[in-house]
Amino acid sequence: MIENTFAPGLLRDRTAFVTGGGTGITGGIARALAQAGARVALVSRRMEHLEPMAKTIMDDGGEALATAADVRHPEEIERALNETIERFGKLDIVVNGAAGNFLCPAEELSPNGFGTVIDIDLKGTFNVCRAAFEHLKREGGCILNISATLQLLGTPLQLHASAAKAGVDTLTRGLAVEWGRYGIRTNAIAPGPIADTEGFARLVPAPVRDKLQRRIPLNRLGRINDIAQSAVFLCSDAASFINGAVLVVDGGHWLAANNLMSAE
Ligand code: COA
Repeated sequence: MIENTFAPGLLRDRTAFVTGGGTGITGGIARALAQAGARVALVSRRMEHLEPMAKTIMDDGGEALATAADVRHPEEIERALNETIERFGKLDIVVNGAAGNFLCPAEELSPNGFGTVIDIDLKGTFNVCRAAFEHLKREGGCILNISATLQLLGTPLQLHASAAKAGVDTLTRGLAVEWGRYGIRTNAIAPGPIADTEGFARLVPAPVRDKLQRRIPLNRLGRINDIAQSAVFLCSDAASFINGAVLVVDGGHWLAANNLMSAE
């Protein structure tokens, strides 16, 4: 059970569209939004990733819809959004969590490998925002992009993802300025190392995990719920004047990257 630190019903009568929402960080966000009262559409490429989380949300007493769509294909997003509106009546919250990543040295990265991550993370985020705009502007709403901290430094083996997430930060700021007048707030969360995810298991080699933890000023790895609760806050009226923020949720990890006094 995800520990919910907010008042029940904080997001009652809101509808959320969460890409990548079946597993990992975005699965946790979807569940936390539902626990706060939102109806949630879970969207990613494969139904088998979505159905277990949809069932979990419904078992919790929430409302969920699972619909398969690839953020690289605008027509699939359009269809998934229409299905969401047909089922739930309106759209209030969009969470752009669909992402692809792998470790690869720049000199071995193929143009298609680089482009595939840009297509999913950056262009996919734009595709979803663009398609959601007409729905969000009706009553106002919010967009929450999932960024990273990779791009704040020169992170090795992550050129593709860093470039994509730098673009996501730029989209966040640009849309905040352009769409604020429609009552649409656009923000991002930049998660640090989150231990209970498939990405962490695949991208952080086991031998460096202890060292990584010691380098985090709060001396622990992140948990999915750390990100999920931050997402509930940013999507709630408590954040109604927050627009264009990229909220780093990493226990102080990236700020401490240059701390020569930290334990090795
Ligand atoms: N190292 C180097 N290049 C890789 C790679 C790796 N581990 N994985 C994929 N690529 C390259 C492929 O070689 C291909 O380029 P090429 O045509 O020049 O060979 C390109 O990326 C596309 O790969 P493909 O498998 O056809 O794309 P896909 O759309 O099926 O997969 C990915 C998308 C690449 C993001 C894949 O890693 C994936 O699906 N990952 C799981 C989801 C995920 O990453 N979630 C994020 C958790 S943080």
